[in-house]
Amino acid sequence: MHIRPRRLRRSPVVRAMVREHHVRVEALVQPLFVVERETDAAPISSMPGISRFTVDGAVAEARELFALGVRSILLFGIPESKDAIASSNYDPNGVVQRAIRAIKAALPEMYVIADLCNCEYTDHGHCGVLDPNGDVENDATVALLVRTAITYAEAGVDVVAPSDMMDGRVEALRSALDARGFTQVAIMAYSAKYASAFYGPFREAADSTPQFGDRRSYQMDPPNAREALREMALDVEEGADVIMVKPGLPYLDIVRLARDTFDVPIAVYNVSGEYSMLQAAIANGWLDGERAIDEMLVSFVRAGADIIITYFAKEYARRHGAR
Ligand code: PBG
Repeated sequence: MHIRPRRLRRSPVVRAMVREHHVRVEALVQPLFVVERETDAAPISSMPGISRFTVDGAVAEARELFALGVRSILLFGIPESKDAIASSNYDPNGVVQRAIRAIKAALPEMYVIADLCNCEYTDHGHCGVLDPNGDVENDATVALLVRTAITYAEAGVDVVAPSDMMDGRVEALRSALDARGFTQVAIMAYSAKYASAFYGPFREAADSTPQFGDRRSYQMDPPNAREALREMALDVEEGADVIMVKPGLPYLDIVRLARDTFDVPIAVYNVSGEYSMLQAAIANGWLDGERAIDEMLVSFVRAGADIIITYFAKEYARRHGAR
């Protein structure tokens, strides 16, 4: 036997030398939930370690993150009032718009991404406006997203991230942003976003559970892979700067497909359910937390992701620091 792969695993030094993939702290994005009502700023019980912040609290959190090396955040808003047409979403003085202004004023270099969707702002909890049959109307919903995106751009956002899965929204957003001179605002499209059970804890955090039905008429069917390629190709053609696969762990094959097919940066969203299941197992002593988190995060890099959106960003940066 001439070939013995174990030779290169004998010590930490040689293992580090031949290590193929690394999680870069610079690639991590921390999601932040920002609330309008002060009383809503509290820990999220289904996501141990994650809280909802007021605008001031979000600024303080952003400062901590930045100091640790996490220099990008993804904002979600929880408004005080909801209605059928998501009015609080495109309010120029809405909670996300105020958070963007405050964070950019405090930390101009923080790279601020705003999730763009209607589900946190509608009283029925769906991602858009409903037709008389209770189905989400595509084009009317896109018009609202465009309206909201303009207010985010005016507030100084770096990136808008449409997570609604309506058809044609990237094209509509790009044209509208460009027409108003916001050519510098990037679009990170949730392109292959599946109708997943792993968003459960998020819906508690963002108070966005649909009041009836589910999201299967707009989010993708989990067994489909070719369709993901089609969705991603459309978003690239329509002008997306970054395309995203979501959730992460159960869809690593889709991340790899995306990496091998497109030449734009690929983002993966390590969603709330992936966070919560790990935290639950860690809390029970069933998993070694640090090792499990590191192993999970490097799986995204190995699968081909450039950007990792994860609730573990702060925790990871605290242990590993900026590289
Ligand atoms: C909004 C949105 C969701 C998530 C991100 N943006 C929820 C959903 O589609 O139901 C999920 C994020 C997570 O679970 O961490 N549409």
